[in-house]
Amino acid sequence: MEYFNDLADFSVAEITELLALACKLDEKPEPRALEGKVLALLFLSPSLRTLVSFQSAMIRMGGGTFVVSPNMSIHGLESRSGIVMDGVAAEHIREAVPVIASYGDAIGIRAFARRENLNDDLSDYAFRELTSLVDTPYINMESAINHPCQSLADWKTMDDLGIPGSNGKFVLSWSWHPQPLPLAVPAATVHMAAMRGMDVTVLRPEGFSLPEVIMDKARNAAAMSGGSVTETDDRSRAMQDARVIYVNSWASERHYGNKSAEEEYKLELREWCVDEPWFENAASDCRFMHCLPVRRGVTVADRILDGPRSVVIAEARNRILVQMAVLHQMLSG
Ligand code: CP
Repeated sequence: MEYFNDLADFSVAEITELLALACKLDEKPEPRALEGKVLALLFLSPSLRTLVSFQSAMIRMGGGTFVVSPNMSIHGLESRSGIVMDGVAAEHIREAVPVIASYGDAIGIRAFARRENLNDDLSDYAFRELTSLVDTPYINMESAINHPCQSLADWKTMDDLGIPGSNGKFVLSWSWHPQPLPLAVPAATVHMAAMRGMDVTVLRPEGFSLPEVIMDKARNAAAMSGGSVTETDDRSRAMQDARVIYVNSWASERHYGNKSAEEEYKLELREWCVDEPWFENAASDCRFMHCLPVRRGVTVADRILDGPRSVVIAEARNRILVQMAVLHQMLSG
């Protein structure tokens, strides 16, 4: 495997193979599979789970990692092209990134959306620029528009719970959040659930439709898998017989890059905080999924997170296992 950037680059059979390998590595660890291998981890955006799960995955297979992030004692990094570097930044990504990559056998890169220009973010412009600077295998650890490691872990979590692909109703719901958040997780999630063959409903208030390019990609995946993708602002209709509600927040396309306009628009939407009444007509064992971090009492009520519906810890643990599978395919042998 030369890169792990998007579940859309793989067939369902290849995803199934990766998930089987993840289960195998869980049951029968291979502590020497990646002996002597080094994974470079470049975090241009913050993380808890992605950082430590990749470190843990490499250690469990006998390899090692090093981490570089802007808040370490590195020189300030410049990323703009054609800039005269007479400001604070002393190093350009055009030198820094290939150097970092050359110290490892593969590189993981995290770079969130800049949230200035929607089209740039939808095209994953910044991440593509970064990966064009490396000639080692690379892993997308969350870019402007994708989070494939999270989606692979979420796919496995539903498999573990026996939630079916075909005929499984999956609701991706917007939730209130004080910040306009990136599109990476909702975009990756709606595609993953559609690719898994699920009947996906995007539940969101007026003004928070996912951009058409994201919905089209998910609809195409659904057409291949036998699933479906719809959207609504009708919570009761969306939640009818749902097996899963996957909750996330994302910025409004209408106000993209304009934080104060979005804040004003969102004033009336504080009730988009998931609580037990949301599940009134869902399947009785409907699960609550979230990639974390999550804001208690803002995005979801404590009693949901602390109750039997929540599978957020299982999702996070599966990050290690699926990333072990990806790294194994990328670096062993
Ligand atoms: N879900 C996820 O990627 O978590 P972190 O942002 O903590 O890495």
